[in-house]
Amino acid sequence: MDLGLRGQVALVTGGSKGIGRQTALAFAREGAIPILVARDSVGLNSARQWITEAVPDAEVYTVSADLSREVHAKEAVAQSLGFKGHVDILVNCAGAAPGRVLMDVDDELWNVALGVKFLGYMRMTKSIIPHFLAQGHGVIVNVVGNDGIKPSYWEITGTAANAADLAVMRALADQYGRHNIRINSVNPGPVDTGRWAQLTEAFARDLDFAINVADERAKKSMTPHRIARPEEVANVVVFLASSRASFVHGTEIAIDGNQRKALMDRTDDGVS
Ligand SMILES: NC(=O)c1ccc[n+]([C@@H]2O[C@H](COP(=O)([O-])OP(=O)(O)OC[C@H]3O[C@@H](n4cnc5c(N)ncnc54)[C@H](OP(=O)(O)O)[C@@H]3O)[C@@H](O)[C@H]2O)c1
Repeated sequence: MDLGLRGQVALVTGGSKGIGRQTALAFAREGAIPILVARDSVGLNSARQWITEAVPDAEVYTVSADLSREVHAKEAVAQSLGFKGHVDILVNCAGAAPGRVLMDVDDELWNVALGVKFLGYMRMTKSIIPHFLAQGHGVIVNVVGNDGIKPSYWEITGTAANAADLAVMRALADQYGRHNIRINSVNPGPVDTGRWAQLTEAFARDLDFAINVADERAKKSMTPHRIARPEEVANVVVFLASSRASFVHGTEIAIDGNQRKALMDRTDDGVS
């Protein structure tokens, strides 16, 4: 299926690794022009090289920015607009909220968790919307996470940040839909990226499991008994960004293999 994305410019935050990098590759495969945003310029360059090795005629740009800072988000959008004169798609994907239970979270950790995963998404969205309004169209896809709908007490900061992202994005979809700005979110469960190893470690620590038990529980909590591959998330993101999804607006799509969080919890079922 041709998604009709050829020539469209897609700004992908967190584009140097994991889900963001796979999403940028999927855009390039569709003939779109990805702009990767992350902090580390070495990681950005190697992601660009990785994409152009897979898609030799791909046009790929990079922007180094720390989205925990408002001024960087504004500059990242301004710099992105400078490449082709327009941006058609924003994918908010940068960041992570560390696992932990409430009693282990202090203000500093709350600020770190919300500062990128929630405020970073807000900063980029706020910075791009004036451009989308001026050009008369735009699409935003947010990579959020199923904790926002299926809360986990062992990932309390992610639960809060994700729920906040989902609620605000629905509100913005109401506000800006009439201006031809389409906004949706996707909610992955566990995904096999560099981050997953850290999350398993945190999950094992916070629920007092051995690492292999934590890993097994996570896999068994999903119907396919495995965690998602980043390209399985990227494919849905790119479809949502395309005009093939033109009537999908103001909603969330789960990409979590029907995960049932209760199966990850410490229950007396003989697994641990
Ligand atoms: N993996 C999962 O299991 C999973 C599940 C549900 C939801 N998610 C969500 O999916 C998104 C991507 O996760 P992932 O697993 O692909 O993560 P990842 O592999 O750790 O990649 C994170 C990306 O974000 C960038 N980043 C981090 N902090 C940043 C900052 N302050 N400013 C700019 N860029 C920043 C990183 O590059 P630099 O470090 O160079 O900045 C990197 O490109 C996150 O929002 C995550 O919460 C992931």
